[in-house]
Amino acid sequence: MNQEEAIIAGQCDRGGGYRELVLASPRIAATVRPGQFVHLRIPDLHGAVLRRPFSIYRAAGDNLHILYKNVGLGTTAMNRLEEGRQVSILGPLGNGFPLELNDRQPVLVAGGYGVAPLYYLAEKLREKGRLLVGGRTAQDILLIDEFTKLGWQVEVATDDGSSGRRGMVTVLLDELLDTAPAGRCVFYACGPDGMLKALAERALAHGLPAWLSLDKHMGCGGGACLACVTRIRTDDGSESWERVCKDGPVFAAREVVWE
Ligand SMILES: Cc1cc2nc3c(=O)[nH]c(=O)nc-3n(C[C@H](O)[C@H](O)[C@H](O)COP(=O)(O)OP(=O)(O)OC[C@H]3O[C@@H](n4cnc5c(N)ncnc54)[C@H](O)[C@@H]3O)c2cc1C
Ligand code: FES
Repeated sequence: MNQEEAIIAGQCDRGGGYRELVLASPRIAATVRPGQFVHLRIPDLHGAVLRRPFSIYRAAGDNLHILYKNVGLGTTAMNRLEEGRQVSILGPLGNGFPLELNDRQPVLVAGGYGVAPLYYLAEKLREKGRLLVGGRTAQDILLIDEFTKLGWQVEVATDDGSSGRRGMVTVLLDELLDTAPAGRCVFYACGPDGMLKALAERALAHGLPAWLSLDKHMGCGGGACLACVTRIRTDDGSESWERVCKDGPVFAAREVVWE
């Protein structure tokens, strides 16, 4: 893990209330793997001292790209970060997704900002596969052209039917699981807990491997404060508490104990 004084190289709107922030951060950009994240200290937060965690959407040359949504104090303050501004980031943090496919076909399942780490994963996996992505409306569906350009087959579901199939992403998942080639799938997922849990149940029922990136509120980001612990089932059936920031954020579906 490095602490780096990154320089804001730019930012722009990406639609659906999302923005893309580009940070010049050569040391972290050189080593970050898909599914890892950075912990960013946002300047001008007036007393709010905690860093905020963000997945890496792309790492190219010296630059890290983050896709973020305005949800509160910190992310709103991020809108105001101007080119040339210095920000402190810790990273790369967490374990990341395993890249070994073991002859399986990758299926990425995304909701919300979950497309960001999965895009970086899609760039790095040796095989192309399918992306199943869900959102409330067409506005919430991001990066479709980017995944398509990489050669991935993209399927969309929206709650209101304004893009792709009407319904949740599980509609697409159930269709996939009903087809014969599903037996060779490995799932990689990032999104809301409800979506991760629904995927985990289906993957386990079909005996298929699934990797889930969990989202927990974080404090230190480095394994010390235990703000981010989650219950994990070990192979012998017992349970332990693991830190999402350090032991995760990626866990196998069979390990996760849902509250
Ligand atoms: C490993 C990891 C990777 C992440 N990657 C991304 C990313 O790539 N893009 C992105 O937009 N967001 C990402 N997040 C979520 C992001 O960290 C939070 O949205 C951000 O910290 C909110 O900060 P804020 O100060 O704007 O919100 P606050 O003012 O702190 O909170 C505003 C609202 O957001 C909720 N909130 C805060 N943190 C989280 C969280 N971690 N998960 C769910 N709700 C939260 C609060 O409960 C509150 O309702 C990630 C989180 C984790 C744990
Ligand atoms: S955020 Fe401190 S241990 Fe995970």
